[in-house]
Amino acid sequence: MGSELIFRGHEAQHQSDEYQPKPPKPWLAVIRPVRYLLREQRFVFLLIGIAIATLFFSLIPSTSSPSPALTFSGESYVRHDSISGESFLTAESTRLVPHRVIGAGKVPLGLKRKGLRIVVTGGAGFVGSHLVDRLIARGDSVIVVDNFFTGRKENVVHHFGNPRFELIRHDVVEPLLLEVDQIYHLACPASPVHYKHNPVKTIISFLLFIYFFFDISTNVVGTLNMLGLAKRVGARFLLTSTSEVYGDPLEHPQKETYWGNVNPIGVRSCYDEGKRTAETLAMDYHRGAGVEVRIARIFNTYGPRMCIDDGRVVSNFVAQALRKEPMTVYGDGKQTRSFQYVSDLVEGLMRLMEGEHVGPFNLGNPGEFTMLELAKVVQETIDPEAKIEFRPNTEDDPHKRKPDISRAKELLGWEPKIPLHKGLPMMVSDFRQRIFGDQKEGDSTAF
Ligand SMILES: NC(=O)c1ccc[n+]([C@@H]2O[C@H](COP(=O)([O-])OP(=O)(O)OC[C@H]3O[C@@H](n4cnc5c(N)ncnc54)[C@H](O)[C@@H]3O)[C@@H](O)[C@H]2O)c1
Repeated sequence: MGSELIFRGHEAQHQSDEYQPKPPKPWLAVIRPVRYLLREQRFVFLLIGIAIATLFFSLIPSTSSPSPALTFSGESYVRHDSISGESFLTAESTRLVPHRVIGAGKVPLGLKRKGLRIVVTGGAGFVGSHLVDRLIARGDSVIVVDNFFTGRKENVVHHFGNPRFELIRHDVVEPLLLEVDQIYHLACPASPVHYKHNPVKTIISFLLFIYFFFDISTNVVGTLNMLGLAKRVGARFLLTSTSEVYGDPLEHPQKETYWGNVNPIGVRSCYDEGKRTAETLAMDYHRGAGVEVRIARIFNTYGPRMCIDDGRVVSNFVAQALRKEPMTVYGDGKQTRSFQYVSDLVEGLMRLMEGEHVGPFNLGNPGEFTMLELAKVVQETIDPEAKIEFRPNTEDDPHKRKPDISRAKELLGWEPKIPLHKGLPMMVSDFRQRIFGDQKEGDSTAF
C-alpha cells in the first residue's frame, strides 16, 4: 500500500518536471525594446531632448516677433527688404504685436529690459516737454531735437545730467541721422503769433524736400526729413497734426472722416495747409515705403509751460487776468473751442504710438465752451473782477470746434480725464510763478 503510494508520487513528480513554456505576454514584445533603449541608449535620448529644447526656444520668439524676416539690428527690429535693399518696419508687424514687444526681444532672466530710444522733435516746447517727462519716467532714452524758436531749455532742464536724456539744438529743416526706435514729430511753430511771424518757415518746418522734384524751394521740409529718418532706421513715426486741418468746419462735431473746409490762401494757411500736407506725406511714406506712421489731430490744449504771450486763447486770458489787464475776446465771443489738459493729450499720444492703428485720431476734450464761457471760468479761477475787452475777429477764425473722439475711445481706449475747472488752476499757478517769480507755489509743472 505504502509503495504504491510512493510510486504514484514519483509519477506525479515526473509529470510536473516536464518543461512547459509559459504563453508569451503580448505587451512584453513592446516593452522589451523600449527598456533596452532606455537602458542602453540614454545618451541618444539626451541629445534628442537638447534638440527639442533648442527648437522650442528658438521658435518662441519668432511667433512673437512680427515676421520671420525681422532681425534685431542694434536695439531695434528691422525688416530687410531683399528687393529694394531698404530696411523698414512693416505696418503688418505691429498689427500682430504691440510696438514695445518688437523692441523688447528676449531678455535673459535677471536683466532689466532696455527702454526704447525715442526722438522728440520740439521736445523743449509746451506739449513736447510733458511728453519727454512721461517717456523718461517710463524708462526710455529720449533725444530732444529743438531749435528753441518757441521752446525753452527751462522746460527740460530737470533732465540735464540724466544719462537717458539728450538735447540737440537743431532745426528740423536740416537732415539729421539718429539711431532710434520711435520719432514723435512735434517741431512746428504752433501758435498764431509764432506761425504768422514766419509763415514760409512754418510750412517748411512741417513739409519737405519736394523742391528736389518740383524745383520750388518753398514746399520744404521738417516732416519729410523726419519721415526719411524713420524710413532709414526703421523707426515708428508719430505726426502731431491739428484740428486746424478741418478749417472752419461745416460738420459739427468733427469726425476724422471729415475732409475739412480750409482756405488755402489765408493768413492761417501756412499752418493749416502745412499740417494737411504733412499728413499726406506721412500717409504716402506709409503706403509707399512701409514706414509705420501714426497721426494725431490735436485740439486746443492748455497747461503748465505754455508760452505766456503766444496768442493762444487760454494762455492769453490767464496771463491777462493775472496781470490785471482786460481779457481780449475777438469777435462776439460766441465762437466755440474745446480745451484739453496737457496730461490727457500726452496719454493719448503715447497710446497712439504704442497701438496698432495709423489714424488719424482726434485727440481733444469734447467739452465745448464759447470764448465768453472760457473768460468766465478764468474770472472764477483768478479774479472775479477781471474785465473783458472785445476786438474785431481775426481772419479765418473757425466758428466752432469740437472733436468727435469715438474713434480714439474705441481703438485706443482713450478719453480725457481732466475737466477745465481742474486743469486751469494748475496752469494758473505755473503762470503766476513765471510772471511774478512766485516761488512759494512749488513746482506746478508736474502733473
Ligand atoms: N498745443 C496745442 O493746442 C496744439 C494744438 C494742435 C496741434 N498742436 C501741435 O503740437 C505740436 C506741439 O505744440 P506745442 O503747443 O507744444 O507748441 P510749442 O511752440 O510749445 O512747441 C513747438 C516746439 O517746436 C520747436 N520748433 C519749432 N520749429 C522748429 C524747427 N524748425 N526745428 C526744431 N524745433 C522747432 C519749438 O522751439 C518748440 O519747442 C506742434 O506740432 C503743434 O502744431 C498743438
